[in-house]
Amino acid sequence: MAKFTISTLDKMKAAGDKFVCITAYDATFSRLISEVGAEAILVGDSLGMVLQGHDSTIPVTIDDMAYHTDCVCRADPQCLVIADLPFMSYTSPQDTMVNATKLMQAGAQMVKMEGGVWLSESISMLVERGIPVCAHLGLTPQSVNTFGGFKVQGRTPKEAKSILADAVEIQDAGASLLVLECIPAHLAADISRKLDIPVIGIGAGAGTDGQVLVMHDLLGLSDHTPRFVQNFMEGQPTIKAGLQAFVNAVKDGSFPREEHTYS
Ligand code: KIV
Repeated sequence: MAKFTISTLDKMKAAGDKFVCITAYDATFSRLISEVGAEAILVGDSLGMVLQGHDSTIPVTIDDMAYHTDCVCRADPQCLVIADLPFMSYTSPQDTMVNATKLMQAGAQMVKMEGGVWLSESISMLVERGIPVCAHLGLTPQSVNTFGGFKVQGRTPKEAKSILADAVEIQDAGASLLVLECIPAHLAADISRKLDIPVIGIGAGAGTDGQVLVMHDLLGLSDHTPRFVQNFMEGQPTIKAGLQAFVNAVKDGSFPREEHTYS
């Protein structure tokens, strides 16, 4: 079967069809997520919390990310595989290039970085050398200490304006995809309409082009359930059925609902 690529997501955005991304960190879940029809897998640095038991993503290293990207890609999923560049692995364009290369050589088709305007030079440099980039704005978990906790972003007009300006800038720099995390639904919908590139939301309402959730959250395995998460295992006989329920709910528009969004 043909692999999903960034062109698949571009076409889905143009057609108004919602696409689905789920985090995975190993070959078994990579295969299951592919079998239920998700278009993308994110090898997220959330693995620091859900696999390694840390209270943030900050301890995750580039070697951790390359190892789990390799595990995910060994299942040869149909999904587009995006891998996170971890904390402090992309502070300079040179470091960014060296570390993004490790993730691409582990099998990823795109790398993700948290941040806005300050990443422009690195984004252009990667894209010019053949490494597609997904940017991540809003609640960027690697900056949890700057935010003073895992807090909703973009609630004041000033913050909202700055997130929108960052989004336009990273698109102009060459990013192919954007994740918006924990921002008000109206702001995420506005950014999704204004950008040509596909936008994936998590805790950002129903107006984005696609949705992503951390796999452990949607399977009801996490000890803390944020407002934007639904436990898709409820009433389902198997893990695969739970994953399928999430994919179906995004595609038929029944997730996320008002109760999962921030205003
Ligand atoms: O690391 C991760 O899983 C992520 C998602 C929360 C989008 O970045």
